[in-house]
Amino acid sequence: MLNVLIVSDEAKAIYALFSSGHFTLHARDSKQAKAVIGKDFEELGKYDIAFLDLSLEDWHQKLLELRLEMPVVAFSDADIRKAVEAMKLGASDFLLKPLTSEDVSGVIIKYRKKILTHKYGFDEIIGLSPPMQEVFGLIKKAAASESNVLITGESGTGKELVARAIHRWSPRNDKPFIAINCSAIPDSLLESELFGFEKGSFTGANYTKKGLLELAHGGTVFFDEIGDVSPLFQTKILRVLQEGEIMRIGGMRQIKVDVRIIAATNRDITSACRKGGFRDDLFYRLNVINIHLPPLRARTEDIPPLSRHFLKKHAAKRKDIFIKCVSQDVVHLLMDHSYPGNVRELENIIERAISFANGPEILTADLPPFLTQSSSRKKIPIPRLRDAIAGLERELIISALNESDGNISHAATTLGMYRQQLQRKLRSLKIAT
Ligand SMILES: Nc1ncnc2c1ncn2[C@@H]1O[C@H](COP(=O)(O)OP(=O)(O)OP(=O)(O)O)[C@@H](O)[C@H]1O
Ligand SMILES: [Mg+2]
Repeated sequence: MLNVLIVSDEAKAIYALFSSGHFTLHARDSKQAKAVIGKDFEELGKYDIAFLDLSLEDWHQKLLELRLEMPVVAFSDADIRKAVEAMKLGASDFLLKPLTSEDVSGVIIKYRKKILTHKYGFDEIIGLSPPMQEVFGLIKKAAASESNVLITGESGTGKELVARAIHRWSPRNDKPFIAINCSAIPDSLLESELFGFEKGSFTGANYTKKGLLELAHGGTVFFDEIGDVSPLFQTKILRVLQEGEIMRIGGMRQIKVDVRIIAATNRDITSACRKGGFRDDLFYRLNVINIHLPPLRARTEDIPPLSRHFLKKHAAKRKDIFIKCVSQDVVHLLMDHSYPGNVRELENIIERAISFANGPEILTADLPPFLTQSSSRKKIPIPRLRDAIAGLERELIISALNESDGNISHAATTLGMYRQQLQRKLRSLKIAT
């Protein structure tokens, strides 16, 4: 069952074109539509596809808001200019008035598959869990704005996927998306890579080369692994952000570059700022919108839909057999694992299992041994608080005693305790002196 939203003054007539057995229809005239659009995403989130009448006065605004949530099919009288404008603004399709029932069902069939995959996530990013739903909301907001974005999260959590989705959903989507792996560019090549060079500017510069920032003009630059860059790199990027201009090596003039910056890191960049390893001013410029991707172990409910997604993605690699699903036991084992490599690790496990499987279902025997051996199967257990504190006390006391060559008075001073107090601790923790 699909939820179709019709936004038109002629909503009733269009409503009649749908065969109501397959669709739940929400027909709205323009007044009602105003009450829906722009109020909050939650209500719009109920719909799967929208039909928007371009004869409504404020159709531009409505389209911009609707397209963030669902495919929008625009329709109007024969007006090429309007049709082109609507497609540019992000309409997914265009139909001519008067609509026929073949028109509408044709479009619905076309988008059905896309719509249904959307239900498990957003634009190829799978995630049912509340933290991922929050991430999807942030992606939409970031796409609609021009602000810089900093994506943080452990390795393999999907940072690059999110960066690409922001670009795809932004008005810059017909311009380049240039991903720059910052840690792979040595300082010696930095300027020629980022800013380019003029012919003859140095020995070997036999031609003029545009830099990556210039190539991205009008689009989005993705600075990946920004937490690992040198102080020189930081200074160069900061200047571009401040001035919106670059100069090629050997160039005579500044060149304006209009780029939207998305950066990503798996490092704790705030602590790098505190320790002086990362410039505060650059951090604040990049971190206008922060999207944090939680580790997979903090959203285990995403593991089953992700596994199905990767199964579909990689099943085609087996030409001899069609692998359809994973067994229930496998799902349990997958949900029990703690994934230090996050989603990338899960994808690798599924891909490997596909090549090992002997039937249409993935079984436990197809999983790597570290998942099936019981000792490593359990997540790292969280110790009871009291045990953890006792362990820590023990360690500190032993190292203070070692440092003071077993002298209890000295060790007590180092630890900031009275001698009698330490002696009581030694007895209770059964530490021999
Ligand atoms: N939510 C998700 N849905 C579908 N695929 C995902 C998701 N998250 C990650 N992936 C897949 O996992 C792999 C790793 O994702 P990605 O490269 O975006 O991670 P990353 O955070 O940039 O990692 P790193 O810090 O190591 O560069 C990719 O193949 C990506 O398609
Ligand atoms: Mg990455």
